[in-house]
Amino acid sequence: MLEVFITRKIHDSGVQMLKKAGFKITVYPKDQIIDRKSLLQGSKNKDAVLSLLTDKIDDEFFTSAGSKLKIVANYAVGFDNVDLQSAQKHKVVVTNTPSDKVNESVAEHTFALMLALARRITEADHFAKRGQYKGWSPTLLNGTDVYGKTLGLIGAGRIGSMVARRAVKGFGMKLIYSGPSHNPELEKELGAKKVSQTALLQKSDFVSLHVPLLPSTRHLISDKEFKLMKKTSFLINTARGPVVDEKALLKALKAKQIAGAGIDVFECEPSIDCDLSDNLALKQFDNVILTPHIASATEEARRAMSEVAAKNIIAVLKGKKPLTPAKVN
Ligand code: GLV
Ligand code: GLV
Repeated sequence: MLEVFITRKIHDSGVQMLKKAGFKITVYPKDQIIDRKSLLQGSKNKDAVLSLLTDKIDDEFFTSAGSKLKIVANYAVGFDNVDLQSAQKHKVVVTNTPSDKVNESVAEHTFALMLALARRITEADHFAKRGQYKGWSPTLLNGTDVYGKTLGLIGAGRIGSMVARRAVKGFGMKLIYSGPSHNPELEKELGAKKVSQTALLQKSDFVSLHVPLLPSTRHLISDKEFKLMKKTSFLINTARGPVVDEKALLKALKAKQIAGAGIDVFECEPSIDCDLSDNLALKQFDNVILTPHIASATEEARRAMSEVAAKNIIAVLKGKKPLTPAKVN
């Protein structure tokens, strides 16, 4: 019987699909990030491993898992936790979960952060709940409009494009993008313009990051980039924490070089702040909204992630091609 190891409890629909396909399923029993020893032990002699973005899938993992392993199905769109070269060396297929449903959920969360920043929703919520509201005022908690503003997408792949549609069709925003690839559909459909990253940072009212974490995107946004941004602009990161240099972000916030930031992913995750002794830490800024890596945390997205991961495992264990192999564009 073919055996699948799942490194943490996930949405049940994919697990049921795997059971129906006749595989023996083992799920790490604790609902917490699996420790290294349990990850290596649980994966030994399995035919497939369904991993999470919190699992380090490296050469030691592949060596320890053994030669039966055919596929690591990562339950995430991102796969920077997986060493693809090592996977190739060990002849293991790696897949991710970039389904439209998941990408739409991430785009929606990105937009939620944009709106919440512009309209100061979290500040207003705290204000109201603390009992500070004493009557309508012309100057109370004034924010800025999103409507008609310029959105700059760094990375206009699948998720970026879904953010773009919301921006242009829902909020009449102007769209510019930068990154290694051209997106002619986005230009045709939404009037997007490709510009240099420098021009994008100088012109955008909202800068949103939609690039994978690669050596070339680590600290893509650092001191120099913050200095290029408008003082009235907002940064949104629902991609990966290390794409933004957190120290530089803190400096930019303190110097009021930008108007605020919406951050779902952290450089030193699961720590919110890299330097806990730093009294400039992210959580001290009212104009920063922090969410704990939940951009794809919806019933719909998590079901889709679980099903896409399961379909990939079923395909590969039946000798077919994976649906969504992890690849760097
Ligand atoms: C979440 O961060 C994902 O990559 O799906
Ligand atoms: C991935 O799908 C992205 O938009 O970066």
